[in-house]
Amino acid sequence: MRKLKVLDLFAGGGGFSTGFLQAKEENLRFEIHRALEINDSACDTLRNHIGKERVIQGDITEDTVKSEVINSCIDVDVIIGGPPCQTFSLAGPARSGSKEMREKLKDDPRNTLYKHFFELVSIIRPSYVVFENVEGMLSKKSDDSNLLKAKQSQVIELVCDELESIGYTTRIEESLTERFQVVNAADFGVPQQRRRIIIIANRLGIDNPRLLSNVKKRRDVKNAIGKLPVRLPKISTNRLEKLKNIDVILKNYSYSLEVFAKDLGKLAENYFEQNESLLILSDTIENDVQSIKHIKSNKVDHLKDFLKRYNSLVFELGINDKDSSDKLISHQSREHNFRDIIIFMLTKEGSNSSRFMNRQSDDYNKFLDDLYPYARNKHKDTYVKHSWNKPSNTILAHMEKDGLKFIHPDQPRTFTPYEAQLLQSFPKDYAFYGGRNAQYRQIGNAVPPLLGKVIGEAILKLEAVNDVKEEKKMVNS
Ligand SMILES: C[S@@+](CC[C@H](N)C(=O)[O-])C[C@H]1O[C@@H](n2cnc3c(N)ncnc32)[C@H](O)[C@@H]1O
Repeated sequence: MRKLKVLDLFAGGGGFSTGFLQAKEENLRFEIHRALEINDSACDTLRNHIGKERVIQGDITEDTVKSEVINSCIDVDVIIGGPPCQTFSLAGPARSGSKEMREKLKDDPRNTLYKHFFELVSIIRPSYVVFENVEGMLSKKSDDSNLLKAKQSQVIELVCDELESIGYTTRIEESLTERFQVVNAADFGVPQQRRRIIIIANRLGIDNPRLLSNVKKRRDVKNAIGKLPVRLPKISTNRLEKLKNIDVILKNYSYSLEVFAKDLGKLAENYFEQNESLLILSDTIENDVQSIKHIKSNKVDHLKDFLKRYNSLVFELGINDKDSSDKLISHQSREHNFRDIIIFMLTKEGSNSSRFMNRQSDDYNKFLDDLYPYARNKHKDTYVKHSWNKPSNTILAHMEKDGLKFIHPDQPRTFTPYEAQLLQSFPKDYAFYGGRNAQYRQIGNAVPPLLGKVIGEAILKLEAVNDVKEEKKMVNS
């Protein structure tokens, strides 16, 4: 078995590396020779998965770090990596030409990471390079998405030019003009919409493989996380009286409590076979609601007591993961406030806040419209409830801040880190180090391993064909 040595730059929690390690082709495999990463938790995750001697923790811009990478990697076959995303926000004013853009890419200090990636490639000169980055960053900021798409293509073309200028072929097989590919991870078996730009380049002067999907039916959220144990969140009771729009709940006190009890009842029915404790919870909550829903005074205090009782029941019945020492695989819901819980419960599966606030939409809901706590002129799609039967939206590192765009299809909470991990196609037993936020960040930043595997296999196939050609040359000479 021959193993191609890989250097993973900006390795994060190891999504790209994991995919490459899964790739197989005849008697060819990859080994992750070194992975460079700056972040403590991501490095701990990497050390656990690829071995601590293979992880270089440091800043790519520092000379000592660069020297360490060069000295230990001079014989690697492949460099993979995606510098953090800001690179493409530097495309510059709409009318600037490619020369100006090239200068910007070179000179803007925010671009040093991109520069250092190519500097290492030009010194190490591996046979293959894979560059991964986000698609569509620019189109968010302007109405003229066509112009910006064109502009982004120009930036990517410059990245390809850069590779060509240091001796790499970026041309894709069966095409005279294409040098990069935009792929959607959902087309490769990942249960998630995730569009990414991939550039595959080689120094052997051959055409690069096109990534073709052989997935007939996209995997959906149900397929990825439908069988996980049910989880309910702890609900915060601190400063409940100060919660934005709590007055809307208090004005509709009995209705809000009934929504809450009814949703838990439905959950108990849906998950009866998996978790009988939900019945105890929903019966108790139903009784409590009946006894407090008509209360006219001190509603906030009653609500706090009610929520505290719910919290201790959820904890006693084990419906949220207890804070155990084994936090590396974390299927634990984060805490939410009562307003958001009601919004989660009343938003229809597969719908979102811009729909429930739109009077023309079938999903319009006056109560939710009143309850929405954010500035409507800025963004309306703050809350997104996922569908069971579609791939999820792009899992984002932003989940470390809040998960409101990642509401579970039928449990009143946002996705746990473990659910995000499975939606990113990480193996079931892959452990992420760091606290919950560090885990969300590593998961959201990652190349889905399944996509990494497809890219890795395409390169192994190319290498296998090239091996055969070399053998023939030797025989004939
Ligand atoms: C988009 S993530 C990469 C994810 C990774 N490819 C994966 O599949 O899991 C970018 C990573 O670059 C790291 N990074 C940012 N600045 C860096 C620097 N100056 N030197 C080394 N790593 C850096 C970040 O900590 C982050 O983990």
